Amino acid sequence: MRIGMLTGGGDAPGLNAVIRAVVRKATDIYGDVVIGFRNGWKGAIDAEVETLTADSVKGILPRGGTILGSSRTNPFKIPDGVTKIEHTLASFKTDALIAIGGEDTLGVAAKLFEQGVNVVGVPKTIDNDLSGTDFTFGFSTAVEIATEALDRLHTTAEAHQRVMVVELMGRHAGWIATYAGIASGADVILIPEHPFDLDEVCEHITHRHQRGRTFSIVVVAEGATPKEGTWETAAGDQDAFGHVRLGGIANALAPEIEKRTGFETRVTILGHVQRGGTPSAFDRVLATRFGIAAIDAVHDRDFGKMVALRGNKIERVSLAEGVGELKTIDPDIYSVAEVFFG
Ligand code: F6P
Repeated sequence: MRIGMLTGGGDAPGLNAVIRAVVRKATDIYGDVVIGFRNGWKGAIDAEVETLTADSVKGILPRGGTILGSSRTNPFKIPDGVTKIEHTLASFKTDALIAIGGEDTLGVAAKLFEQGVNVVGVPKTIDNDLSGTDFTFGFSTAVEIATEALDRLHTTAEAHQRVMVVELMGRHAGWIATYAGIASGADVILIPEHPFDLDEVCEHITHRHQRGRTFSIVVVAEGATPKEGTWETAAGDQDAFGHVRLGGIANALAPEIEKRTGFETRVTILGHVQRGGTPSAFDRVLATRFGIAAIDAVHDRDFGKMVALRGNKIERVSLAEGVGELKTIDPDIYSVAEVFFG
């Protein structure tokens, strides 16, 4: 078979492990030709391609980023975008396409499948907010990086008796904030799923200091918002999928916390560090299993599916299920974190 492959959306550690797994099984076992489209849907629209071989994926397993490049191009927002993709797929005689991405990339894949494209999806996002799969690759690495940063911020916070407000990624869901917050013993965790009341946040901090603690760590997911009508924050610009560019809630929170509690407060925004660098062993294994499962699904001609982790098994779910609804934090896990607030 001739198989196209692309990586779209924000990168996540483990993308290269998926690419390597697909190429190795496709070329070594099935005798396929694998064509990589560069920079997500943009490469499929503009026919920017490269043939991927066992040689070209040599040594990429532990590397962050993606050798194919990525973009947030949305073909449904570009004139003739979909027709151009169909034309590229036909001109390179591709029998099937493997799309590796999050809600946006797989949302496009789901629509293309409805229009007759033979596509299989691989779920990727550090945010872990895709439905149908227990975990996405990239999440474990992001949690490790955030936990290490929070551990380091604890010691400097303690030395200076400060409140540290630490902003982590998580546009729609607080998975990274909750996991890293539990792992590092955060004193308050603010996530998009639970709009916060700033007075309550300050009460937690004050209560903690009344109990003799001299510092506090407040973890805030970038998409966290105040309860309606309690506090005004500014909105950012939008990307091609209509998402607001976030990054800044911690800067808004810190001076308010300092003013209301009287404790010196500092801000750390961890940002793209959470997406960069080498994947954790867990993510390498998950990404490799996803890649193998995706090429097997292509050979079973089981199109319109997304590979998924359910328990410890890799299964196939419909792309529509994967992108239908965002997977917000499991309330049982957040309630574990809440025990340690204040
Ligand atoms: O896709 C995950 C994510 O990390 C979000 O948490 C974040 O809002 C977004 O990507 C930022 O990505 P970029 O700066 O690449 O648009």
